Amino acid sequence: MKILKNYKELSSTVADIVEAQIKEQSKLVLPTGSTPLGLYDELVKRKLDWSLVLTFNLDEYLMNIDHPYSYHSYMKKNLFDRTNIYPNNCHFPFRPTLSFEDKMIKGRGIDLCILGIGSNGHIAFNEPGSTFDSRTRVVDLSLQTLQDNSRFFDSVEDVPKQAITMGLGTIMESKKIVLMVNGTNKLTILNVAMNGEVTEKVPASILQKHNNVEVYYCD
Ligand code: F6R
Repeated sequence: MKILKNYKELSSTVADIVEAQIKEQSKLVLPTGSTPLGLYDELVKRKLDWSLVLTFNLDEYLMNIDHPYSYHSYMKKNLFDRTNIYPNNCHFPFRPTLSFEDKMIKGRGIDLCILGIGSNGHIAFNEPGSTFDSRTRVVDLSLQTLQDNSRFFDSVEDVPKQAITMGLGTIMESKKIVLMVNGTNKLTILNVAMNGEVTEKVPASILQKHNNVEVYYCD
């Protein structure tokens, strides 16, 4: 794990990794949430050429994708509309989920997957109890996640109860994984995930089994 000075450094360090991949015309898996906001700002500032990049988002709520709080809207606002990426090259999990996975896996597969971690150890929306071989599918969100994510909505009742997410098996097929973690409130779960037992009770613990994972943390 690399501990960085502050959020700015976390964002620019991961932006360097993404920039190196973009030059190689790759397939990227991208997260939403609070943690990557600085990364997206930094990438936009760098005015990179995204014309040959394919992106795949980790997850999306089961909701109208045009809703301002959907992850489609988040990505458009924070990254896609601020770069020259082609909308057709931006993918979100969809049904049939097999077609989504085909698109991801076809050819060279996923070069780089950027992740955040939930306070309950989830990655993407793979909640505790998700199987390590899980694939893209519809899931029920845990109470903890509904509560955590209510900050993006008007109230906890407004948070969609279900989402569609890449599976843990899907994520683990990425050639390289970068886990971004911001805030002391994530330290305990990060420690459990990285140094504790590898168990489906802590979905992020599966990352211990990947041979090319980098973890970046700042307070
Ligand atoms: C979002 C995602 C989630 C978040 C996690 C942390 O696409 O995959 O697993 O990465 O919930 O969210 P933040 O960064 O808001 O703390």
